[in-house]
Amino acid sequence: MPARRGLVLLLALLLLAMSAAVLASTGTGEEGVRALIRATARSSVLLLCLAFAARPLRQLWRSELSGWMLRARRSLGLGYALCQALHLAAILVVVSVHAGESDLVTWIGGGVGYVFTAAMALTSTDAWVKRLTRKRWTLLHRTGMYVNVGIMAFTFQGGVSEAAEPAPYWLALAAIALASGIRLAAWLRSRR
Ligand code: HEM
Repeated sequence: MPARRGLVLLLALLLLAMSAAVLASTGTGEEGVRALIRATARSSVLLLCLAFAARPLRQLWRSELSGWMLRARRSLGLGYALCQALHLAAILVVVSVHAGESDLVTWIGGGVGYVFTAAMALTSTDAWVKRLTRKRWTLLHRTGMYVNVGIMAFTFQGGVSEAAEPAPYWLALAAIALASGIRLAAWLRSRR
């Protein structure tokens, strides 16, 4: 099995195990499924930041780790898409089974994120790079990553002031700031 597919499979198994563990400990009622929504958002941000920082990190620092991250970038992106699919499935359960509240603005903002994520996942093969041309493919994937990172940053910063336990929100924002800082540093260096 190619290494890329092996990592996607491993991430899928880990995400399913995490979802089962969350539901086993918090229950399958509304609170349990909401805990799953939060858990999938938090694992998503980790995968997204790794994929977001992979290429610029390689440009700044040649090491085993940065080489691995660059090679694993597409698998990490597909892992992100899978995690976001679990986020969506849990949201649909809260709305349809538990009649939970959901607002239109979240559906529109989140929906834009999902359109990009689905387009990126569907075009993640070399065949699609050729079909779209490298320039258009990069534009789609770069824009999609920025849109998703933006939604993550916006949603997590809301939790800092609203949540009873702000620590996970600060941690997620720190991961986003670190990945964005790495991209900025690589960009500045490439201009010199
Ligand atoms: C169809 C669109 C979406 C809907 C309806 C939606 C709905 C929700 C809901 C209801 C929660 C709160 C769960 C709770 O604490 O009770 C949540 C949390 C969150 N969502 Fe989504 N979401 C959507 C798409 C997205 C997308 C595309 C992203 C990121 C790119 C995202 C990132 C987050 C984050 C960061 C949190 C906060 C997690 C936490 O509290 O730790 N969501 N979402």
